[in-house]
Amino acid sequence: MIAVLRPFIPKATSYLQALLRFFQAAVLLITQRYRSASLRFKIAFFVVILMTSTSFILCIITVQIMNNYILNEIIKRGESVGKSIAASAGYNLLSKDLLALDNLVFKAKSSNNDMLYVAIVDQDMKTVVHSDTEMIGLNKPVVQGKLYKEAVDGTTVNEFTNSSGSIFEILCPIVFMKKSLGSVIIGMDRSILLEAKRKIRNMILIVFGFIVVLGIFASSLLASFLIKPIKELSAGVEELKYSTAKNPLRVYSQDELGKLTRNFNEMAALIANQRGKLTEYARDLEEAYVSMVKVVAAAIDARDSYTHGHSARVAQLSFLLGEQIGLPKEDLRDLEVACLFHDVGKIKTPDSILLKPSKLNETEYKEMKQHVVDGASILSWAPSLSKYIPSTRHHHEWHNGKGYPDGLVGDNIPLFAAIISIADAFDAMTSDRPYRKALSNEEALRRIARKSGIQFRPNLVAIFLELMEKNRVLDEPIRVAGAA
Ligand SMILES: [Fe+2]
Repeated sequence: MIAVLRPFIPKATSYLQALLRFFQAAVLLITQRYRSASLRFKIAFFVVILMTSTSFILCIITVQIMNNYILNEIIKRGESVGKSIAASAGYNLLSKDLLALDNLVFKAKSSNNDMLYVAIVDQDMKTVVHSDTEMIGLNKPVVQGKLYKEAVDGTTVNEFTNSSGSIFEILCPIVFMKKSLGSVIIGMDRSILLEAKRKIRNMILIVFGFIVVLGIFASSLLASFLIKPIKELSAGVEELKYSTAKNPLRVYSQDELGKLTRNFNEMAALIANQRGKLTEYARDLEEAYVSMVKVVAAAIDARDSYTHGHSARVAQLSFLLGEQIGLPKEDLRDLEVACLFHDVGKIKTPDSILLKPSKLNETEYKEMKQHVVDGASILSWAPSLSKYIPSTRHHHEWHNGKGYPDGLVGDNIPLFAAIISIADAFDAMTSDRPYRKALSNEEALRRIARKSGIQFRPNLVAIFLELMEKNRVLDEPIRVAGAA
């Protein structure tokens, strides 16, 4: 937080600017935090702020109303007492009955604790009687305060502050026989009001605190009530993203959220239905695709009667080898299709070379080698077939780097290509050619073993030999899943 606020502080040239920038930064920070906060926090925060600010404003208004009420009550009481004394004091003042006047002042002062003083002055503002006897005979000092109220009958209320504190001084004229004889002066202690204000403030603070706690609790409850279905909806959407939603979501209410949940359940059921149909279509499409690949491979092999069924046999052998080294099911399926495609480039090889009954010369052999590049190029036309390009392009690479087309060495040769290379060589050697008879299985395996580490990957050769031994070398049909 300090790091966020710091840039704003040195730029400020005055206290006001600093305060303004600090406020801007605080708002920015709260806004940023608020945006990234959870929905539960946002709702709770909003409700608490709303309740707190409303309570605060209500408290201020209440305190103000109570203040005015208490103040008016104090002044009214003072005026009432003052007028009462004034009414009784007229005759006594005229007859100079000081004892009676003193009695009036004494009674008023002793029965009202919030009266600081009570006095009766004559027309010249000379104190005749006073609750403080030391003031008797002295002239009433002119009050330097604020006129709070002035009534038609001449009663005035002044507000001022002296060493005794904050005082309301009420002056009631004494009129007898329509003749003004003096005034009754009462000093009301304003600290009584302050004490009352303090008590009210404390009470309001307690209520305010209670409202805030209640607000937090209520907002938390409200947030939970709103968040629960939203959370379930969110989890449902998340589940639907990766799979079909297993169970419909629970509908908590009949309001907008409940309607949304019901709609979501209907939508999830629809998606599940569509997804099932799509899976079926995908399965059909995949089967059609594999059939198409087999047809293409058979068409390539059919160009040469000597290689008839070559791709399918390479697929069978490669599948067995791949299974033996522990390839997962998906990879075995890809390997099988890769085998069917491995010589697809031969479709561009001229018949004069492909079907030549004798050994190829150097130029012809060079053109024959082009089939791996042509095969990769044909597969690149369809993005879905691009994963078969490496095995097609590199199935004639040698382990020692002397193969073609790129002279890859060792484990740089893709695994599928290294597997196909062995199966391809075995099937070629054990098939008749126009210029030679098929080798026996044992002789073909011996030749493969001799080329281990030279043409073929050694660990694959070892496993292949072991596999052939175990299967009594292809004199009888080999167990292959899926391949025709
Ligand atoms: Fe080939």
